[in-house]
Amino acid sequence: MTRTGIAACIATLGAAAFGTSFAQDASTSSVPDVADTKPLPVEVDHPGRELFERNCAPCHAPGPGDDGAPMLPGTAALAAKYQGQRYGALELRGDLDANVLRYFVRNGIGAMPMFRKVELSDADIDLIAAYLEASAEANLSRR
Ligand code: HEC
Repeated sequence: MTRTGIAACIATLGAAAFGTSFAQDASTSSVPDVADTKPLPVEVDHPGRELFERNCAPCHAPGPGDDGAPMLPGTAALAAKYQGQRYGALELRGDLDANVLRYFVRNGIGAMPMFRKVELSDADIDLIAAYLEASAEANLSRR
């Protein structure tokens, strides 16, 4: 195998370990985070949507916070973390597959609490991941 062949192989393995495009697209695409505060133009009808609305949207929806803050805490934290390289709102992120989502949901991170299996099953997380993907796909094509 050539040296470039090996490098390409390693890059592919890295991307696979993180889920499809998680490791790749931060360097290649730039997205505006200001769009996060607008309501989503397309409301996707999906079985994972209600689970997301109930468990995640209070912190991760694209709209402003109840306290008058311009963004909800999860959305604001992620917009700050990625500095315009990814959307702050999870419903616009197409790069969170079920395994990546499960890691964050089961462990929590920063101000985000962990969810136990009695609160949110693995099947629930799979549904939320599928909803986020469907929502990102429907909404990003409109922007
Ligand atoms: C109490 C508010 C709150 C709730 C509820 C909450 N989150 Fe979070 N979440 C956050 C915050 C704040 C962060 C950013 C933490 C940090 O990086 O410091 C975060 C980060 C994440 C991340 C990391 C994304 C990345 O790229 O770093 C994922 C994925 C995530 N949340 C998914 C979910 C899902 C799915 C749910 C519902 C099951 C949920 N969160 C519920 C507040 C919340």
